[in-house]
Amino acid sequence: MPNAKTRYAQVGIGSRSRMYTKAIVEKFPEIAELVALCDINQGRMDTRNKYVAEKTGAAVPTYAAEDFDRMVAETKPDVVIVTTVDATHDKYICRAMELGCKAVTEKPMTTDERKCQQILQTVRDTGNQCQVTFNYRYAPYRSQLKEIIDSGAIGEVLSVDFTWPLDTRHGADYFRRWHRRRENSGSLLVHKATHHFDLVNWWINDVPEEVFCHGSRKFYVPETAERLGLEGRGERCLDCPVKDKCPFMLDLTESENLKAMYLDNEAEDGYYRDRCVFSDEIDIWDNMSVSVRYSRGAMMNYFLHSYSPWEGYQIAFNGNKGRLEHGSTQFAYISGEQENADPGQIKKEGLYITLHPHFDKPKGFEPRTSKGGHGGGDDPLLADIFDPNAPADPLGRKADQRDGAYSILSGVAAYHSIDQGKPIKIADLVEPELIG
Ligand SMILES: NC(=O)c1ccc[n+]([C@@H]2O[C@H](COP(=O)([O-])OP(=O)(O)OC[C@H]3O[C@@H](n4cnc5c(N)ncnc54)[C@H](O)[C@@H]3O)[C@@H](O)[C@H]2O)c1
Repeated sequence: MPNAKTRYAQVGIGSRSRMYTKAIVEKFPEIAELVALCDINQGRMDTRNKYVAEKTGAAVPTYAAEDFDRMVAETKPDVVIVTTVDATHDKYICRAMELGCKAVTEKPMTTDERKCQQILQTVRDTGNQCQVTFNYRYAPYRSQLKEIIDSGAIGEVLSVDFTWPLDTRHGADYFRRWHRRRENSGSLLVHKATHHFDLVNWWINDVPEEVFCHGSRKFYVPETAERLGLEGRGERCLDCPVKDKCPFMLDLTESENLKAMYLDNEAEDGYYRDRCVFSDEIDIWDNMSVSVRYSRGAMMNYFLHSYSPWEGYQIAFNGNKGRLEHGSTQFAYISGEQENADPGQIKKEGLYITLHPHFDKPKGFEPRTSKGGHGGGDDPLLADIFDPNAPADPLGRKADQRDGAYSILSGVAAYHSIDQGKPIKIADLVEPELIG
């Protein structure tokens, strides 16, 4: 009898990948099967495999990164799930599709226009699919916002005012590890803002055309360490002489999961999860002010910063029939600190949706909420990936390479704009015809 289960291989076995492993082995075991793991770090794969064996009774084969092709040949996955460091996504997305698999990738799809072009070309050449997992779309209150805009309540959207403060816990964490180098993450303009740019593209059903950006790093700098009295600080928290007085200290020995994932495996690849947030090595911005013009003429003012006392966002859509305001705040967290905690949970009291029609009274909406990671977005996203019988989605939340491309290209254009001091046209980065 043929095996009816869809076969999944995972590449990049860090914090985020656990959600997918768990979905395969615990949530969808009747329809999904994990067939292999791939990473540059054997220790992290072994740790994950212990969990897999506990749940399924058998570990799966593990492969070093350079043996990716052999993994596909030997274990025959239908789908490869990519959760590696951002700048390496393209390699696995393209190779998976070339070898006949569907690719499911974490955001950002990739980090520059050349890699983006390569992915788009490979989709075209192979006829295979690339799904980008934009979990933020699936949070019930964000889907509700889409419904309100689609209903025409504010008419045509003419402008958007969007600000997203990251806090000194979650926001600071991007300055500790690989994200802090633009070559790995494309900076927060790509790594983080891809979520936000994607939401706006989807909410207003448009694509970016031209981008201008100012950026600076003013908080995660050695001067802040001096202001905090941290003279003589080390390069990482573990052996830092002034760690006891540093408000940014991350103790890897205190979290069982961070220790098992990173500290216990760092000898293998030199991945220190607790590097100093004030290091000279950092080359990403912590203030980013972006202006975007969309293809139908709407404009957006977007501000991202990463040293706020609270985290969340505020957005206002100005339409020709009124204004729609929405915001939320979320609980502070460190990625991977608690193995089974849902990351990015929101505070109910900070959540609002208010419609201000022209010439009429404002109307508050009761925001729809649900439990689970990232504002309740993670669970419906997983159903969209793994469940072939998931009902058709009138909101079109399942994202492909086109959505992945347009969401990163705003950020890529933004960093080129900072470098060159001028506005950048998206069409000068990747041909719109290739994006489709
Ligand atoms: N959608 C979300 O809300 C969300 C949340 C967190 C992370 N993410 C995304 O998930 C991805 C992973 O992030 P993370 O927080 O798990 O990072 P992580 O550092 O915990 O894990 C990355 C893993 O990739 C491995 N790796 C690095 N280079 C590799 C290579 N060349 N080949 C194979 N494996 C390699 C590392 O060894 C590590 O195990 C990133 O793309 C990130 O943007 C998305």
